[in-house]
Amino acid sequence: MRIVLGVTGGIAAYKSALLLRLMTEAGHQVDVVPTPAALNFVGQATWEALSGRPVRTDTFEAVDTVNHVRLGREAELVVVAPATADSLARAAVGLAPDLLGNVLLTATCPVLMVPAMHTEMWTHPATVANVELLRSRGITVLDPDSGRLTGQDTGPGRFPEPDRIWAQAQELVAGSPRPRLAASQRQTSPPAGDHAGPDAASHSEPHRGPEGGALAGRTVVVTAGGTREALDPVRYLGNRSSGKQGVAVAEAALAAGAHVLFIGGAMSVEPPAGAEMVRVESTQELHDAVMTHAPGADALVMAAAVADFRPAEYMDAKIKKAEDGSNPVIRLERTPDILAETVQARGAGRPMPGTIIGFGAETGDATASVLEFGRAKLARKGCEMLVVNQVGRDKVFGQDTTEVTMLFADGREPVAAAGDKTEVGVAIVTELAGLLGSPGRLDRMDQ
Ligand code: CTP
Repeated sequence: MRIVLGVTGGIAAYKSALLLRLMTEAGHQVDVVPTPAALNFVGQATWEALSGRPVRTDTFEAVDTVNHVRLGREAELVVVAPATADSLARAAVGLAPDLLGNVLLTATCPVLMVPAMHTEMWTHPATVANVELLRSRGITVLDPDSGRLTGQDTGPGRFPEPDRIWAQAQELVAGSPRPRLAASQRQTSPPAGDHAGPDAASHSEPHRGPEGGALAGRTVVVTAGGTREALDPVRYLGNRSSGKQGVAVAEAALAAGAHVLFIGGAMSVEPPAGAEMVRVESTQELHDAVMTHAPGADALVMAAAVADFRPAEYMDAKIKKAEDGSNPVIRLERTPDILAETVQARGAGRPMPGTIIGFGAETGDATASVLEFGRAKLARKGCEMLVVNQVGRDKVFGQDTTEVTMLFADGREPVAAAGDKTEVGVAIVTELAGLLGSPGRLDRMDQ
């Protein structure tokens, strides 16, 4: 996601450096826009080094890129932290003496302002009125913490801890009815035409599910379909995944009231109507999309059939038949294990969903059964649940019916489900709701 981090001139600016790190470590692209006064506290070089991006404060820098309008328009989230009493007043009036003011006037995405100031300033009727006005316009203004302030004084006005701000920001994005993805990626299904490859159109507002559903208020990221690894401009290594099971899971989650972000690879079925869509082709694109969107979600369901290997070299020109009749040799390399990486990132303290579900396609062999392989895979991946199914050339891939066994990391009994993929999708979402500790019941689903 593209984030603008506005920093205004308060001592808490140094704490925003930690906030910036939380954002970049979660894989987001962050443009820091300090006000000129903010640079008295933390300098431009620090922001550039931490964000890895150029940092500007003035409207008249980088004019050729129409920076003052572009940054706000392209942002998917704007966080102003710390927001001083003065910056709240300017935002309330709509003043734009600097680049941050322009960003706030052009942004259409969720905006979070994080005030930090002395108690007298926070409780002053002018600030109270400005905050009220900003909130009435849909801007989220956090209440500051109470506690020790910069001088000897204590009281409300303290800058909240960066991880609380980041959690609030992610909640704001997850709950936002506005489009949340970059224009280049955004699409709300149903799309038209070919189901493989990136698409850019946006048709309608994302679906809001039934309010009493078991997953109401939850955001679920579902990956589905197969990846394609390019060999040359016309050929790829792919797999037989139809995307049916992932679509069924997404539809069951939507019916249970979840906000669903659907990351779809190559599929032979329609994507789920009402989900927020991201189209991908390669494992790397899928990896990047998951790392961008999973941190703000409650659950991740990795139903995509991801290539374990890809060609080590990509040929810029089509591979031709050799004159001497020799055959080309294709060397493969491992792809990143996306599922395992999300679990590891969570273990390292980075924001990731508390419930991660993997799929295991197994054939079994002379040494171990399908379920034994499944248990080993659940342990290897470290996720909360693994949906194991038996595959063969005509089994599962592309079929309407399937038989799965759901294995759980917390030791609860395995749950079997069989039937068409829609029914199995509901069974998977029932277990997902159970793992999320949802108080709702799935039989309230509007199917
Ligand atoms: N997966 C992933 N990234 C990969 C490969 C797989 O995230 N590079 C995910 C799949 O989406 C699925 C789960 O991992 O949820 C299991 O994938 P699978 O390929 O069956 O498992 P592997 O651990 O690769 O084991 P195997 O040796 O059986 O292929």
